[in-house]
Amino acid sequence: MNKQIKIFDTTLRDGEQSPGCSMNIQEKIEMARQLERMNVDVIEAGFAIASKGDFVSVREISKNIKNCTIASLARALPKDIDTAWEAVKYAKRPRIHTFIATSDIHMKYKLRMRPDEVLENAVNIVKYAKRYCDDIEFSAEDATRSDPEFLAKIFQAVIDAGATVINIPDTVGYTTPDEYYKFIKNIRENVGNVQKAEISVHCHNDLGMAVANTLAAIKAGATQVECTMNGIGERAGNAALEEIVMAINTRKDILGVASRIDTTQIMRSSKLLSNITGVYVQPNKAIVGTNAFAHESGIHQHGVIQERSTYEIMTPESIGLSENKMVLGKHSGRHAFEDRVEKLGYNLNRDEINKAFEQFKELADKKKVVYDDDIEAIVNKDAIDIPKAYELKRFVINSGNTITSTASVVLKNKDDEIEEASKGDGPVDAAFKAIEKILGIEIRLKDYSLRSVTQGKDALGESVVKISDANKIYTGRGLSTDIVESSINAYINAVNKMVYEIN
Ligand code: KIV
Ligand code: ZN
Repeated sequence: MNKQIKIFDTTLRDGEQSPGCSMNIQEKIEMARQLERMNVDVIEAGFAIASKGDFVSVREISKNIKNCTIASLARALPKDIDTAWEAVKYAKRPRIHTFIATSDIHMKYKLRMRPDEVLENAVNIVKYAKRYCDDIEFSAEDATRSDPEFLAKIFQAVIDAGATVINIPDTVGYTTPDEYYKFIKNIRENVGNVQKAEISVHCHNDLGMAVANTLAAIKAGATQVECTMNGIGERAGNAALEEIVMAINTRKDILGVASRIDTTQIMRSSKLLSNITGVYVQPNKAIVGTNAFAHESGIHQHGVIQERSTYEIMTPESIGLSENKMVLGKHSGRHAFEDRVEKLGYNLNRDEINKAFEQFKELADKKKVVYDDDIEAIVNKDAIDIPKAYELKRFVINSGNTITSTASVVLKNKDDEIEEASKGDGPVDAAFKAIEKILGIEIRLKDYSLRSVTQGKDALGESVVKISDANKIYTGRGLSTDIVESSINAYINAVNKMVYEIN
């Protein structure tokens, strides 16, 4: 039997830290549930002391997730450890993950501490955290640019102090596979008590080598890998979970390890994350890109028809892509719809199915055929329920290439219907300005995008709107076969998230 590698998912912490990827509490809980469904070993749910929102998300994930270890990040400060523990203490398997930088550059310019002070601090903080929790992970930030001898000394000391996992991050994505392999091996050989702890690696993708470095570390004996869905994360991102897991599965012959991940949940996890953040992967992204299993050239298509393994090293089914893409239409009944939703891997309750079926019928009236992607877009749209402070009642647009666009929009707020009109630079701008007048506040629009969910003139248009206040970016999503309506819905969705978080 192959040795098991633990998958430590930090989508909700390192991933969420990256620009444009912030999530609200409901979204984080939904994502955590999906990570649990996929069988990750550890979910790093957030950085509890970073904000009230982070704290509540870590606490709620700790209460709701039963089958994964739940970790919170904490600097090497007692107040960080206290807060991390307050948030993770509800988990069935809690972990405190503390870190301090160990490279000369970080110690000198960021921490303004001498190496002996850093070592003392690390040991003290692990002992402090250990009073609360058995499972303590210690990370040596910027490990790959640290002096290997100093690193071995600090790891030895924190393991003696009670650390159960030592993490060796390539914080700035600087190392190469060969170098990282030797680096990890050196630590294994020079930390006398290393067998008492799990060896973890955490790679950033600044030079595009995060996954290759992670795999090299596995070869060198790492037993836990830290990664994020779709590779989101600081700057160029973290090592992508789906790439590591599928590499482990596909190349067992050379890596000789396994993971507990249910790979058929990969595609669903990837899509859920994109839907929540509005950050979509590029078409040629390994494993989860829309082209990852598409064979365009005639020679390749011919080969795959004759024998799949000619050009396919993994099957689409292994990541949860259904080969049998069925289409539904306006004559499809409830039973066929429910059956399709279930086959796509969604387990909806009665209310959710009723709501989704209603939307499906509306869509099927406008569109000849409804594809799997349309169904997933509908199901995911309402997956995360937040109170709707504002709802669209109706709108009228007047637009053309020789006139100034105008929009009149009516929104419902509690029992009131409020109407405003505005001019704008095109119909979407006019509609957004009318909504801004209704809200009576200035909204900072950070980003707006529109894409079609499937092919064809009658395709569903999906709009993503990002707005911001002083602290945060809020992402809204809207769906409709009418692109102005989907844009308005996305804008209102983002506003509702902002109202919900502020209150
Ligand atoms: O990249 C890094 O060094 C980190 C640590 C806090 C683990 O994210
Ligand atoms: Zn990181």
